[in-house]
Amino acid sequence: MINVLVTGGAGFIGSNFVRYALQAHPDWHITNLDKLTYAGRMETLNDVIGHARHTFVHGDIADATVAAPLVKASDLVVHFAAETHVDRSILEAGEFIKTDVIGTFVLLEAARHASHLRAFVQISTDEVYGSVPAGSSVETDELKPRNPYSASKAGADRLAYSYWATYQVPVMITRASNNYGPFQFPEKVIPLFISNAIDNIPVPLYGEGLNVRDWLHVMDHCRGVDAVIERGTPGEVYNVGGSNEVRNVDLTHTLLRLAQRPESLIQRVQDRPGHDMRYSLDTTKLRKLGWAPRVPFDEGLRDTVSWYHENEWWWRPIKENDPSFRAYYQAQYGSRT
Ligand code: NAD
Ligand code: DAU
Repeated sequence: MINVLVTGGAGFIGSNFVRYALQAHPDWHITNLDKLTYAGRMETLNDVIGHARHTFVHGDIADATVAAPLVKASDLVVHFAAETHVDRSILEAGEFIKTDVIGTFVLLEAARHASHLRAFVQISTDEVYGSVPAGSSVETDELKPRNPYSASKAGADRLAYSYWATYQVPVMITRASNNYGPFQFPEKVIPLFISNAIDNIPVPLYGEGLNVRDWLHVMDHCRGVDAVIERGTPGEVYNVGGSNEVRNVDLTHTLLRLAQRPESLIQRVQDRPGHDMRYSLDTTKLRKLGWAPRVPFDEGLRDTVSWYHENEWWWRPIKENDPSFRAYYQAQYGSRT
């Protein structure tokens, strides 16, 4: 068996990766280390929790007493765990520094002393390049993060690289664009707008809605990470993008059409401070490893809207019963709407 440590595997992308990897790699045993913050939920793992090749560990990546022995026992580490929501980082950045920077440092320190580690995949983000007015980011571009989330991710990205350059920890870094798909926490724009639309609640579009994001289906992201694990080179960075740039206003119209709700639900609200206008990735390098996104956006988005329609059991308790979500919604949107 190949021992794989997945961090953050109760979150959106991590849980999809666990599900994908259990199927794609019958010789992997996955240890899933997750702190179960507001964004990590056991019910997301309902279908894999009793799986013979999946062990869940409740713990903090920044706690070396828990995390270090797990890293040292691993052949592969796929590090997803992070604080991930830009708006929350603007409200309060402390947890982003603790988890995204210090948590990554704790894992890397343990990786230095891991005797049979073959790969440490640092899951980074296209946000580290900052806003891209024209053209597309290549992996060697300068990093210019512009919000506390992306700055903490850029710190982790370069810290991981430094452990390759200095200690030869077999680090590979992926920088993905905006993901969408099942089990995404309903604070991010697609699940927030779908679930609001289902309930006939206004969808709060920031500013003029002209900002552009490059949408990538979460399964295409999982396949991209897998391609890097299988065929990537230590010390290298790989962009994982959907090549699918959409303005927020156009995305919103499409979501409302798919949810069969009127455009009058669109509510223009005060913009996000420092809102990056556009992200765009050049994915030539990963495509050379044999990867390409497979899920067409119209199909993926239609399936995602259906998923939220059919899985209210998953998101409705978060939006209706979780006091921390209600407090966040009030802090983020109360004065905007
Ligand atoms: P998410 O917020 O849905 O999930 C994060 C998970 O990490 C949760 O399960 C949470 O409980 C866990 N976690 C947080 N702090 C932890 C800690 N200290 N110790 C252990 N577990 C902890 O995030 P996501 O959207 O699935 O993102 C996963 C990774 O992918 C992140 O590193 C993020 O930066 C990166 N990424 C996300 C996107 C996107 O569009 N969502 C795009 C590019 C890169
Ligand atoms: O690009 C990759 C990044 O994508 C990841 O690294 C982050 O973890 C992930 O959260 C995501 O960041 P964004 O800030 O791009 O995602 P979000 O869903 O928050 O916003 C997408 C766009 O929609 C952005 O331009 C802001 C806008 N938006 C968002 C929300 C929540 C709105 O107009 N209204 C909203 O209520």
